[in-house]
Amino acid sequence: MRIVSKKDDEIVVLALPSEDIPKGGYLVIDDTSVNKEMVVQVYDETYLDSSSFLDEIVRDEVIKSSAPSTENDPLQISALSYMLMDMRFLKCKIRGTFQDGHFIPISTWLPSRTSSKIRLVKVNELYSKILGRTDLNVAIGTTTDGQPYHISLNNLDGQLNIITGKKESGKSHLSKILVSKLVENGAYVIVFDINNEYAGIVKKTDGSETAISRKFLRMKPSENLIFSLEYIGKRTLVNVLQNVLDTPGVTLREFIRIIDDLQSKGCLTIKELGEAIQNWKCNEFVRDALFTRYYSLLSSKLFSDDLEDTFDVEKVLRQFHEGLALVIQLGNTSPLTRKIVVEALLNKLCDLLESGRIPPIFLFAEEAHLYLRDTYWDDIVTRMRHYGVFTTFITNQPDAIPNGIYRQADNIFLYNFVNTNDLEMVSRASTVDVETIKSLVRTLPPRHCLIIGKVAASMPTLVKVASLDFQAMGETKRFFKNRLAVVMH
Ligand SMILES: Nc1ncnc2c1ncn2[C@@H]1O[C@H](COP(=O)(O)OP(=O)(O)OP(=O)(O)O)[C@@H](O)[C@H]1O
Ligand SMILES: [Mg+2]
Repeated sequence: MRIVSKKDDEIVVLALPSEDIPKGGYLVIDDTSVNKEMVVQVYDETYLDSSSFLDEIVRDEVIKSSAPSTENDPLQISALSYMLMDMRFLKCKIRGTFQDGHFIPISTWLPSRTSSKIRLVKVNELYSKILGRTDLNVAIGTTTDGQPYHISLNNLDGQLNIITGKKESGKSHLSKILVSKLVENGAYVIVFDINNEYAGIVKKTDGSETAISRKFLRMKPSENLIFSLEYIGKRTLVNVLQNVLDTPGVTLREFIRIIDDLQSKGCLTIKELGEAIQNWKCNEFVRDALFTRYYSLLSSKLFSDDLEDTFDVEKVLRQFHEGLALVIQLGNTSPLTRKIVVEALLNKLCDLLESGRIPPIFLFAEEAHLYLRDTYWDDIVTRMRHYGVFTTFITNQPDAIPNGIYRQADNIFLYNFVNTNDLEMVSRASTVDVETIKSLVRTLPPRHCLIIGKVAASMPTLVKVASLDFQAMGETKRFFKNRLAVVMH
């Protein structure tokens, strides 16, 4: 291999047909004269472009088709010319430099074209040189060079992550692997499970239990996830009234007065709230508006005065002190209930974290735009993250996540996109250059993803995600598949 040219952050390398360099692979350009090594990533490859080759290809094809058996080439000229035609230009992006054993993520020097030696480097070798020794390593798949791929859970801790890609590419599968590994290592994870599919992580395909089956709790709103008004408190209740139930200002003011009144008497219950509205001195229109909201709260069946049944985050975390996957099943619930649950839980978590009463929590939010109100996005990446809510967003609609969130993301797991708009949007918003993302992601097969960010030591890496042994449950239901099964019985 040889360097051909350099422009901005890009280097073009010439490779022989026999040198098998995979797209996404890393090369090290070792210039011994200055004792530096440049790390570059191959993001695309092309043929040598020359009109003389074109002429030759055409001539060759014509000769072959007109006189196929008259091959007489004692000097092997054609072999040489074929080799030339198959030579490739590898388009590479510069990722950094090794100097005196240290890695610097920028590169301000030019390696020698004549004396530099170029070699393919394995991803794991690169990682260990950049990251040094890491702990809490978990295997999540294999690299393109066929080696096990590990990430350190430390690099998910305290971070904002995004998993995105087209439908059925394997996003939820990866998310389940991350949840399992975190919980196995003692973390507290809350999952907003929009398709009710995460319960599968406690069972292997043969029906036996997985390592985390005793650290798992499945909560279904209105069934076993019920709150008491006293527990969620005034702030959350007002937030729900204002943001979820669109309570107008005047009505909200009356509500706050009623809540204050009940709280001062120590009887903030759903029953007392109904009676207080009935007997409250106010305009009949306001009373109607109050009742409408009150009935919406009732109809969500999320509230109860029976303290035995109601949910208490602290109690649950104390019970599962070795780690917990708390899966909130939001599938088959109305959008209103979903929003109330999310509002109530996030507010409560913030209160508890702010006062240091619970340890940090990892939050996995599938298709968050379906239940997260607009003002929460920024809150999650700033205030909540500061208190200790570390979020992973999972979505097949990348434009549903605000642009700013991508820029703040520490790790992005990118699956295939065929839609150019989606690809365009993600590549513009992430920290890696547009060319790399477009070229590598467009050709990704299912179950493969491009990992960008801290977990990948800022070296974008292609990974085939492992097929961990748990029940999937995420498959899309099919009409014909079921019919076939019925016919066969
Ligand atoms: N690495 C993998 N190994 C084995 N099976 C996988 C892998 N990734 C995904 N699958 C399977 O492929 C199917 C689709 O995966 P998954 O549900 O994770 O896709 P998704 O991207 O979340 O799709 P959607 O956009 O519909 O939510 C599932 O049946 C899942 O078990
Ligand atoms: Mg999914």
